[in-house]
Amino acid sequence: MNIAVIGTGFVGVVSAAVYASFGNKVSGIDIDEKKVAALKKGLVPFYEPQLQDLLNQEQKSGRLTFTTQFSEGCSDADIILICVGTPSKATGEVDLQYVFSAADMLAPHLKKDAIVVVKSTVPPGTLDAVSERIQNHTATPFSVASVPEFLREGTAVHDTLHPDRVVIGSDDPAAVETLKKLHEPLEAPIVVVKPESAQMAKYAANAYLATRITFINHIADLCEHTSADVEEVIEGIGLDARIGSHYWYPGLGYGGSCFPKDVNELAHFSETVHEAPNIFTALRDWNDDRIPEKIKDFGHFVDGWKNKKIAVLGLSFKPNTNDMRVAPSLHVIPSLLEQGATVVGYDPKAVAEAQHILKSHPELKLTQSLQEACTGADVIMVLIEWPEIVNHDYSLYAKDSTQYFIDTRNQFSQNQVEKWGFVYRGIGRHGE
Ligand code: UDX
Repeated sequence: MNIAVIGTGFVGVVSAAVYASFGNKVSGIDIDEKKVAALKKGLVPFYEPQLQDLLNQEQKSGRLTFTTQFSEGCSDADIILICVGTPSKATGEVDLQYVFSAADMLAPHLKKDAIVVVKSTVPPGTLDAVSERIQNHTATPFSVASVPEFLREGTAVHDTLHPDRVVIGSDDPAAVETLKKLHEPLEAPIVVVKPESAQMAKYAANAYLATRITFINHIADLCEHTSADVEEVIEGIGLDARIGSHYWYPGLGYGGSCFPKDVNELAHFSETVHEAPNIFTALRDWNDDRIPEKIKDFGHFVDGWKNKKIAVLGLSFKPNTNDMRVAPSLHVIPSLLEQGATVVGYDPKAVAEAQHILKSHPELKLTQSLQEACTGADVIMVLIEWPEIVNHDYSLYAKDSTQYFIDTRNQFSQNQVEKWGFVYRGIGRHGE
């Protein structure tokens, strides 16, 4: 099949490369000339494991190309996938301008009976609006579908190749058959539903996972008032088949480009349809409040932040990505600096990103050396569980004076950290 993918962010580039690897001819389209120029040279404009190799392999095969021209990318496409960003406005309402502009721009170049698929996360009802916009620009017959994306950053190629399910939302049986065929090589269960249900399923999946994280964070907070250890509690509940032991690690709340945004959008939608307050409005508020509360709490633990040297380890929002959207470091670092601490930030991949995003804090030191960040630190604070950070030997940094080790991801053994010479603090832990 001939496929066009509009938008060359995480979802777009990964989808384009994966669909090409199934033998399809794929054209990636973006209005950002710089991004397209880099992709044409075979360079992925962000860090994502496995993607560089897959991209180069598919470009070499001739199946995958990139362009800034809708005419070039869309005119022979049987399927056009819209994979552009859908950020939230300040109110929490989703901003659909990029989806609509993609619809406007692809419309004049549509091939007869092409299927326009919205993969971007959009609220129920958006597909009708997309369809209308396309009809305003063309008389060519086409169909539409919603196929939401469930990939995670850091494991995006693996998740796209091995999805738990593919959800196809369409009222058009012929389009459903073609989209089933497109996804056949994945050998994944395919769920066919109404477009609105597919769109809501994406919000529901992310909001449910955000709920699990918030739930275990609140259990962890309660553990801190007792001698219970949240990690043991997780063991105690995880074997219940109705619950499971996955997706439970406590921390400073959820970040990234999806959970905060999608929960905020559901909260905003709940308010507009007079269903608030509900769980989504509560989740939004709790997640926003969590880091300030924890920083205050840790501040008591270390006997105040003023004049302390803090090594902040992990600047991206999760391991194996350089994406810093809603990363804990963006709240933690300014707050520590404001309270008079000296901060050295380290990340295996996100230092360049951090230099740009945190440039309004010239007093912040960033380094690509874990050792440099930790040397002389009064407090080592692990924000992100990059393997390099978790597997490091911190005994090298023991000093005579009291040093603290704050493990916001519960990745370390308290015994081990104490042996290294630090006072340990996790989330909801009273371990060993
Ligand atoms: C998420 C969804 O998992 C994915 O299906 C959707 O398509 C996009 O949003 P992503 O944001 O890439 O993916 O990362 P994910 O691994 O789900 O983590 C999101 C946030 O939750 C991170 O801040 C992570 O640290 C946090 N998290 C995750 C926890 O705090 N505890 C957990 O147990 C799991």
